[in-house]
Amino acid sequence: MSNSRQSDTEKLKKENLYRCLRVLEKNEGTRAVFDGKEIILFCGNDYLGMSRHPRVLAAAHKAIDRYGVGAGSARLIAGSTEAHAALEKKIARFKKKESALVFGSGFLANLGILTAFAGKNDTIVMDKLCHASLIDGARLSGAGIRVFPHKNYKKCEEILAKDNSGRKLIVTENVFSMDGDRADLRELIRIKKKHRAFLVVDDAHGTGVFGKNGPGATERFSKDIDIIMGTLSKAIGGLGGFAAADRTLIDHLINFARPFIFATALPPVLCETAREGFRVIEEEPELVKRLWSNIRKVHGGLAGAGFRLENPESAILPVIIGEEKEAMKVFEKLLTRGVFVPAVRYPTVPKGRARLRITVSAAHTDADIDFLLKAVKGLL
Ligand SMILES: Cc1ncc(COP(=O)(O)O)c(C=O)c1O
Repeated sequence: MSNSRQSDTEKLKKENLYRCLRVLEKNEGTRAVFDGKEIILFCGNDYLGMSRHPRVLAAAHKAIDRYGVGAGSARLIAGSTEAHAALEKKIARFKKKESALVFGSGFLANLGILTAFAGKNDTIVMDKLCHASLIDGARLSGAGIRVFPHKNYKKCEEILAKDNSGRKLIVTENVFSMDGDRADLRELIRIKKKHRAFLVVDDAHGTGVFGKNGPGATERFSKDIDIIMGTLSKAIGGLGGFAAADRTLIDHLINFARPFIFATALPPVLCETAREGFRVIEEEPELVKRLWSNIRKVHGGLAGAGFRLENPESAILPVIIGEEKEAMKVFEKLLTRGVFVPAVRYPTVPKGRARLRITVSAAHTDADIDFLLKAVKGLL
């Protein structure tokens, strides 16, 4: 670390890694105004347009009238309401687990899960591309951390075979947030059983994205995943995180997960909007269908325009650029053409692997997609 905060940020500027906030006016989910100009957004995680779904908005109004805007205290003091209990019941059913527990955010859920289930005599074995919240949770737990190369399950198994520490936790994402590809849960379950490990799957970007019978969704494997973590901030459209697991494990979290115990409860209004979001997913399957039809249209259009992309496995379509400076140039150029697609750089992704992270939503119209595909012509 350099001597002063200012020189730290100056260093970032030199390395094209400096970040700043951009204020979007009139943000309507897939459209906004930036610098006085209307733009179309292909960058959020509101994959089903749930943050503005009329049923979810109606649930919000009703809940605010009933509960106000805040919970007032932590769950274990006086912050636990029927709204929390009803949402947890809904999540448990949705994820096909006995029980669930809601946290203030997905980030807090991951910190809580890993610190509650791993300690200094344990080992956490995690995929190289796990999200910052999983890395920080692992560090905070004091457990030994072993990282295996992305989706290299042979290496994961080798690490476990040599390990004779206390508890062993395998940690992965279901959908990887910056690459959009998916873990092989079937293989991880085989490994976990063989090595008597505990499997934690972060389903932040999978929840709500795969239909009831979608291939490889965590629900299909729920019996063999010890803890399914998820967020309410992406396809569910609001804010909050959760863990879904057997009752005894949830009881353990209530007693040992410090971000749960020592933080004010999620506002009940957000519990009610999330519960309505889950209901919408179950009752309006056309939303997930529309999302996948949009994903295929965007992917097909980008491939047709010469972009090199992997087959789509989720709503996240990364276009690898490489150099950070170049990625920022492409981002700025697209912005001048009226499309907002963020350039994702180190430390979110490895150095030299900067990319455009295009995300698709069911809320995108055909015209939005046509606009994107026109804007990317001749870009690279
Ligand atoms: C894989 C993954 N896990 C956890 C989180 C944290 O979730 P939240 O934004 O709800 O705090 C994110 C969000 O960016 C994520 O991408």
